[in-house]
Amino acid sequence: MKATATAHRDFTISKIDERIYGAFLEHLGRAIYSGIYEPDHPTADSDGMRGDVIDLVKDLDIPIVRYPGGNFVSAYNWEDGIGPKQERPVRLDLAWHTSESNEVGIHEFANWCKSVGTEMMLAVNLGSRGLDAARNFVEYVNHPGGSYWSDLRRENGQEEPWNVKLWCLGNEMDGPWQIGHKDAAEYGKLAAETAKAIRAFDSSLELVVCGSSHSGMPTYPDWEATVLEHTYDVVDYISLHMYFANHEKNTGSYLALAHKLDTYIDTVAGVIQFVKAKRRSQKDVYISFDEWNVWYHSNQQDREILDGGNGWPHAPALLEDIYNFEDVLQVGLIINTFIRRSNVVKIACIAQLVNVIAPIMTERGGPAWRQTIYYPYYFASRFGRGKALDLAVTCPTYDSDQYSGIAYADVAAVHTEDGGVTIFVVSRHPDEAIELEVDMIGFDDLRVVDHQIMASPDLQAVNTRDRQDAVAPKPGNGATLSDGRLSVALPPYSYQMIRMG
Ligand code: AHR
Repeated sequence: MKATATAHRDFTISKIDERIYGAFLEHLGRAIYSGIYEPDHPTADSDGMRGDVIDLVKDLDIPIVRYPGGNFVSAYNWEDGIGPKQERPVRLDLAWHTSESNEVGIHEFANWCKSVGTEMMLAVNLGSRGLDAARNFVEYVNHPGGSYWSDLRRENGQEEPWNVKLWCLGNEMDGPWQIGHKDAAEYGKLAAETAKAIRAFDSSLELVVCGSSHSGMPTYPDWEATVLEHTYDVVDYISLHMYFANHEKNTGSYLALAHKLDTYIDTVAGVIQFVKAKRRSQKDVYISFDEWNVWYHSNQQDREILDGGNGWPHAPALLEDIYNFEDVLQVGLIINTFIRRSNVVKIACIAQLVNVIAPIMTERGGPAWRQTIYYPYYFASRFGRGKALDLAVTCPTYDSDQYSGIAYADVAAVHTEDGGVTIFVVSRHPDEAIELEVDMIGFDDLRVVDHQIMASPDLQAVNTRDRQDAVAPKPGNGATLSDGRLSVALPPYSYQMIRMG
């Protein structure tokens, strides 16, 4: 089977905003406690943050991390996480039916972000609270001093403001499960007034308003239209979330879900244009896809924990999906979609980062390791920065249960900042190899400088504490570039990165 593509150096989709390689950390399960924070761990730093996790996160070179939730933020009092640790209250977390010790708050998280080399993307609580708590939080975080909240931050040990640029106006407010859920008009008005107050403090801040929790929501896409009609002039991004599952154990259908993602982005981009036109606006609003990942492996276990009458445990093992090789392909497909949609998707956060539906797993008191999905995220974040190329692809297709015309080879290409080209390619073919040829037009003197491949005869293969490298990339061979044509074989069900420079 053959597939062809043409890449022309002048045919670009957009400059990729590096924040599409962002991540998300919520006070949920073991993401924070025994994930990034474990004071008794042998690798812990003076703040109690695990050094082994810091190293794995650093390698990913993540530009932004969204915090502190998620559903958690909608009943969170940010003030509970400041001041001396021994005086911080234990609270009941209504989103996940757990206890929150508040040992980690904004100071500890900010220090951790510095250690891993990332920026904060903070969410305010528009569920149980509102404008007032939000504006105080922004003042605490960003004002240099001389006011009540900024001086309190200084008393608490942080002299300089953190200058956080990116703020989320609540989380998934369309969801009936959300504490303080609102209808679109109610939320739109509250978000607009909160945005106005935050902008009165600093008009240069970037604000994200809540879009739909997923494209199956009954209010989608009216929600986006109504919310944007209230907020268009005062926000910069609208958030979307999507999780991927293979409950039916149907790989062909599972790997076609990126088509649903693509349509979701396309639809919301259209709604943005609709509201822009309706308001006769000159400004643009973009998409912040600030929660995405595979999430289903742990559903049964979570039901047992959440429904099991366990009371209010602290940091139980919630949402601990163990990812397999099939999920490597899915994550590769999702990221390829974001690259191709980089003209409208400017922020995206893998949800989440540690232990909770995450590329990194830890054992309390023990090691930290990479899950299978760590790798496609790693390769894209490290080598997928630059301009997305608008490829012309010809490839045989298949029909899934839900969608027709799904290409067996999914290709995305980035003209990198150093003048090279990186190609990310996923083969959805179950049993045939595909010969892919890419005509590289207008690029001088390229050669293949790195080729990484992930393929496995076992779609269910996973990495565990004791077999941490069972699923890992291997150097590829046989990718050739001659006379401006790249030739590479795609084994069945495979992920590859080919870097030319
Ligand atoms: O990431 C897990 C949860 O998924 C988040 O708390 C929520 O925003 C979404 O429903």
